[in-house]
Amino acid sequence: MSQSPSPDQVEAAWSDNKLAQVLYHDWEADTYDDKWSISFDERCIDYARDRFTAVAGTDGWPYARSLEIGAGTGFFTLNLMQAGVIVDGEVSDISAGMVAAAQRNAERLGFAIGGRVGDAESLPYDDDSFDLVIGHAVIHHLPDVRQAFAEIRRVLKPGGRVVICGEPTRLGDAIARRLSRATWAATTKLTSRGPFRNWSRPKQELDESSRAAALEAVVDLHTFDPDELAETVRSTGLIDVATVTEELTAAWVGWPIRTFEAAIRPERLGWGWRMFAYRTWLGLSAVDRLLSRVVPDELYYNVSVTGLKPRG
Ligand SMILES: C[S@@+](CC[C@H](N)C(=O)[O-])C[C@H]1O[C@@H](n2cnc3c(N)ncnc32)[C@H](O)[C@@H]1O
Repeated sequence: MSQSPSPDQVEAAWSDNKLAQVLYHDWEADTYDDKWSISFDERCIDYARDRFTAVAGTDGWPYARSLEIGAGTGFFTLNLMQAGVIVDGEVSDISAGMVAAAQRNAERLGFAIGGRVGDAESLPYDDDSFDLVIGHAVIHHLPDVRQAFAEIRRVLKPGGRVVICGEPTRLGDAIARRLSRATWAATTKLTSRGPFRNWSRPKQELDESSRAAALEAVVDLHTFDPDELAETVRSTGLIDVATVTEELTAAWVGWPIRTFEAAIRPERLGWGWRMFAYRTWLGLSAVDRLLSRVVPDELYYNVSVTGLKPRG
C-alpha cells in the first residue's frame, strides 16, 4: 500500500506541479480503482466504448497500435481492448505507481501491454509510431495542454487519430464541485453521531481524504471551454477536430454519489449500491442526450475531443 504524502511533501508540491502530480497519483495508484469504481467488466467496457464512439465514431476499428497518455490504472486502454476498439495497447503515465497498476490489471485480464513512465508534454516515443493516441481525464492535469497535443501529433502516424475523453468543462465543473462540497459536509455531519455513526469511514481515512482534497486543488489545473479546446488542438496542425459534451443531470447526481461513497465505509454500500448508482447515471445520461437539443453544451460536465494527423 502506498504511503500518503507527508505534510512536507504536500508543502513542496505547491511550488512544483509535476512533483505534485507524481506524489498524488503514486499515492492514489493502489486504491484508485476502488475510489472511482473502476472495473474491467461489461459496465466499464460499455462506458469506455460509448465515450469513445460519442466523439470519434466507429471508423477505423480496430486500431492496430494505440498509446494512452496519463493512463492511470489502464481503465480506458484495457476496456477499449476488451471492446475490440484497440488491438495492441501501450500505456504511459507520469506516475510509476500508475504504470505498474495498469500492467497488473492487464496481466489479470490476460493482455500483454507495453508501459512507460513519461510526461505527456515530452512523450518517450518515436515520431509516427501509433495509429491512435487516447486519454481519459488527463489533460486537465497538464500545465501545457497545447504542448501535449503537439507531442501527440508527433507520435501519431500520418492519418492517425487522437481521442481524449472525460475532461471537465468550466461551468459543469463549477456546479459539480459545489454539489460535492455540500454532499461531503452533509454526509460527514450525518455520520458523526446518532444511528449512522458507524457508517462513517475511520477518522484516519477521512483525514487522508481531506489531505488528498488539498492536493487535488494543486493537481487539477484546468477546466475547458469546448470551442477553445478545439482551437488549441487545431493550432498544433491536427485536422477534422471535433468535440462533444456529455453529462448534465448525470453529473449533478453522479458527483454527489461519488462524494458520498468517499465518506462512507465501502462494506455499508456494496455491489448492489454500485449497480444502482450506475443505472441511475445511465438513465440520467439518456435524459441529458435529449436535453442537449436545447441546453448549451458548455453546461455539460464532460468534454471529449478528437482530431486526425494529416496524411503526407
Ligand atoms: C485522473 S487520473 C486518470 C487516469 C486514467 N486515465 C483514468 O481515466 O482512470 C490522471 C492521470 O494523469 C496522470 N498525469 C498527470 N500529469 C501527467 C503528465 N504530465 N504526463 C502524463 N501523465 C500525467 C496522473 O498520474 C494520473 O494517472
